[in-house]
Order: sequence, then C-alpha cells, then structure tokens
Amino acid sequence: MCGIVGGVAQRDVVPILVDGLRHLEYRGYDSAGVAVLNESQALKRVRTAGKVRELDELLRKEQLHGMLGIAHTRWATHGKPDTRNAHPHICRGTVAVVHNGIIENHEALRAAQIKAGYEFTSETDTEVIAHQVYDHMMKGDDLLKSVQRATHELDGAYAIGIISKTEPNRLVAARRGSPLVVGVGRGENFIASQAAALITVTQRFIYLEDGDVADITRDAVTIYDASGKRVERPVHISSLTPDAVEKGPYRHYMLKEIFEQPQALADTLTNCLSSNRVLEESFGPKAKDIFDQAQSVLIVACGTSYHAGAVARYWLESIAGIPCVVEIASEFRYRKPVVRPNSLVITISQSGETADTLAALQEAKRLGFGHSLSICNVPESALVRASDLVFLTRAGPEIGVASTKAFTTQLAALMLLTICLGRRRGLSADKEALLVKLLASLPAQVDRVLKLNEQIKTLAERFADKHHALFLGRGTQHPVAMEGALKLKEISYIHAEAYPAGELKHGPLALVDADMPVIAVAPNNELLEKLKSNLQEVRARGGELYVFADETIDVTEGPTVHVVKLPHTDDVLTPIVFTVPLQLLAYHVAVLKGTD
Ligand code: M6R
Repeated sequence: MCGIVGGVAQRDVVPILVDGLRHLEYRGYDSAGVAVLNESQALKRVRTAGKVRELDELLRKEQLHGMLGIAHTRWATHGKPDTRNAHPHICRGTVAVVHNGIIENHEALRAAQIKAGYEFTSETDTEVIAHQVYDHMMKGDDLLKSVQRATHELDGAYAIGIISKTEPNRLVAARRGSPLVVGVGRGENFIASQAAALITVTQRFIYLEDGDVADITRDAVTIYDASGKRVERPVHISSLTPDAVEKGPYRHYMLKEIFEQPQALADTLTNCLSSNRVLEESFGPKAKDIFDQAQSVLIVACGTSYHAGAVARYWLESIAGIPCVVEIASEFRYRKPVVRPNSLVITISQSGETADTLAALQEAKRLGFGHSLSICNVPESALVRASDLVFLTRAGPEIGVASTKAFTTQLAALMLLTICLGRRRGLSADKEALLVKLLASLPAQVDRVLKLNEQIKTLAERFADKHHALFLGRGTQHPVAMEGALKLKEISYIHAEAYPAGELKHGPLALVDADMPVIAVAPNNELLEKLKSNLQEVRARGGELYVFADETIDVTEGPTVHVVKLPHTDDVLTPIVFTVPLQLLAYHVAVLKGTD
C-alpha cells in the first residue's frame, strides 16, 4: 500500500520525510522516493526500487536538503516496481507529485497529453497528474488553482501531494477516496497518508474530507471543498504517542498487535459493562431510540471487518433474534438491493476510511434503509463522522497491514450490540449476565492461547514449502476459517481458501492431497460430530490435517493429523479465541518464508 509524506518548514524537511516513510514501511512497498526544492530553488529527486534505508543512504550521498518536499513509498499498480515508476513524478523540472490511489481515466488523459507534446518517463497512472497540473500552470493559474482544476479532470481515487519550483513556500494536497491528513505544526506544516507518520513532529491533525484541496504554507493551512468553497476543518489532538507507533521488543508490528489483544479487548470492554449488564450508552446518546426502532440489521464491510460481520450474523439471529444481512461493501453499492426500512445499517472498519465501506453507507442512506452505526477503531475517521451511532473499539493504532486486534475487538463490540438488541426481543437478564461474564473473561482466555506461540511457530515449518491451503469451519467458525485463510494469503503469499466444512464434499474435496494442508477449527459444540465426519473425508483423500481443537474434545493425533489443543472456551466466544492461533500461524509462516 502506498504511503505519502510531505512538508513545508523553516528547517530541512528531508529527515522528517524519511522518518515518516519509515513509519509507513509496515504497509508494504516496493520502491521509495523523495523530491525537494533545494537551496538553489531547483527541484531535486532521489528514488530507489529498494527500501527506505537505501533511499536514506542515497539522500545522504547526494546531500539532498530542502525546506519544501514530498516523499512516497510505492506499491506497484500501474507499471512494474522499478526506479522509473517510483514517485515523485516530475513534469518538465517544475511540478512534482506523489499519489496514492488509482486514476481510472489515466489512459485518456495520457493520450491527450502526448498529443499536446508531453513526454512520459514512467508507466504509472500518476504521471498524468503532474502534466495536468503543469499544463494549467502554463495557462496562467497558480499551483493551487491548477490542482483544483486538475482534480476535477481526474476520475478514480487519489490522495496527492504536489509542489512546484515556482512556489517555494507552498505544498498543495488533495484527496478523494484515499485518506490524507494535514499535520499542523508551529511555523511548519505537513501531510501524510496517516497521522502515525508524523507523530514525531506534531500531535495536531486535520483530517481532509473527500474532495478537499488544502493549500499549505509554513504558517497557514487553508482548505477548499470539492466546489472550491473555503471551509474550516477541525484540528484534532491525537492521543497517539511516539511509543504507540513503535515496535517495542517485537520483531514485527503484526506480532506486537497479536500479543496486544488481551489488553485491546479489556480496553474495548471497559466502561461498557456494569453489574452484569451491557451499558447501551456505549453506542452513543441516541442508542436507545435507534435500537428500539431497528427491525433488522444490514452489515457492510470489507476484508477482515467483513468477516467480523459474518460472525455477528450468527449471533444477531440466534441470540438477539433479529434478521441480519451481511454484505461486502464493494458489492453492495452496485447491487440495487431491496430496501428494508428501519434496518440498522452497521459499518465495521478498523480505519474508518475504507472507500468502499463509506460509499456503501452513503448508498444505504440514499436508499432509505435506516439509522447507521459505525464500529470503528479511529475516532476522527470519515465513517465515524458519517454515522448516527458510533462504537469505538479501543484497540490502539493498528500499524500492521494484517488486521488482528481490530478483528477481535470488533467481535467484542458486536457481541455487546447483540446483547443490546437481544434485550428487546426476549433475551433474559440471566442470559445477559452469563454473556457479560463470558465477555469479561475474554482477555484472560486470549492470553492463554498466546502461550501456544512456540508450538504454532514449530507447526508453521510444515507450511513454508506449501503453495495452497484449505481452511474449514462450521457455523461461526466458517468466518473464522475465512479470516485464517485471508491472513495466510495476505502475509505468507500462500494461496488459501476457506469452506464451510459441510461444503467440502460438493467439489473442493477433489483438491485434497498430501500437498494441500487442511486446517480445521474445532470447538466443542453441537456441530463437532459433523465436523469430525468432514475431517474423515479429508483423511480418506490422503490429506494432511491440522486441527485447532478445544482441549475437551477427542481428536486422535497421527502421522497426518496434527492437533493443537486450545483451552476450553464457551462456544459463544470461540470466534474470538480460535482466530488467534490462525493469526500466529500466518505470521510464523510468513517469517519463515521471508515474505514482505
Ligand atoms: O480499515 P478496514 O477495516 O475498513 O479495512 C478493510 C480491509 O481492507 C481490511 O480488513 C483488510 O482485509 C485487512 N488488512 C486484512 O488483514
């Protein structure tokens, strides 16, 4: 995922840009670059198809310094990962741009620009932005006006930072669909794709809204909305500390965040539980009224957050007795769904900035579904701002691209919601008290699973040479299996699929052989016997089984059956507890394989 940092100051911004890129490295990237206006007012650029460390060495070698600059880490989408395609992209030595997102009409713009005499030095969609802005400047507009005009000509998603050698005290930034924050300093201002990249220079941030263009000098930040009207955006004081975005003793952020789960769960549940009850004010002052009106639930989310929604569907229907539909946000907005008025529309998102989820929420509002609730980890995010009710998971910054503590805290929030909605449909006070007791035990339960880290690390060795894997689960464990498969493919680049175990015989069983490890999650519940017969089908095909099993069930180990016993967990909590070993498995396989 690409990362942007930029700054205008009265000191050399290069070390700040490099430090910012370092804080964004965890997102994964294949090349990096910096452009600054140097002491002689020339636009200078250094790029590498390597790591930020190598970029830093090159910058030192070339002695690049300047008080205005932009920097980028690139994850290739258009054009291969090499130096030529790395950002910043420069037009005629004058305008430099860094960009996150995808310009969908780049081919048409490119054709027109070639016709107008512009030369392209990269295969990226980004270069058209530099030419488009330059072109407007040549027609007499200043940098700000040129960016405003150019953004109206771009289709697609972008967060951009632009500088021009003709305006040495000006950084212009714009966003649509991709996040971008302005870091407000004293006599200096910055931009970044994420606040964490700037936390060593400021704790004051402005979160740009979709369509905003920001005109940034050393002393002022002026923001214009999509229509060009000057607007005020609030300055938020971030609670992030430099410590919170460091890895501490852990080798990777992902491992740190997996191990932070007991604390994250405890923090998320704190202040929501009282005397065996869930306090529904945790969802906001209007929660009571809105929950009273809800006749059904519509959940929209992407990726891991979608998996949390898929687990919640089981809980909301079986415990709260409320109809629930879960949709992948990127599909919902194009699907023309039948509207169910008085639905509670729930968006789930770690970042609160996922463009598809935001667009799905807007679409649900437009269609007239009902009130909205956002379950989100970032208080100032766009989703939070756009929702009637908000539940903030208190997982702390999730730096690792692979979502871990966000998922388990989302599930804790969804169980709280299930209880609140269930109360209105006959969930007894006794049952609520039992569920609250179980929730309160969660941090300790997860802590016990983390003790299996070494055992799972050893098990991971058996996966390092594999190319495919199959994950199986039944009931609430099916979304858990989906989450396990997503983690493995995202982090270790092993192709992985998840199936409800009962579906195995309807096709995928044909794939099973000794080279296709099959991972099953097996809590002690009423579906256990059914799951066991599905596992027999795997054995009959010569498959190698890895079973994450509740310690109270009887699964016999053998040369092709490997069992990891998990501490006994009440069935209702198993989606949270059983996800943790799958996170660890994906992490250790990735470390063994050395994937980025
Ligand atoms: O910030 P969000 O929760 O909205 O992000 C949605 C997905 O992009 C995200 O969960 C993604 O699937 C994870 N990085 C997977 O680990």
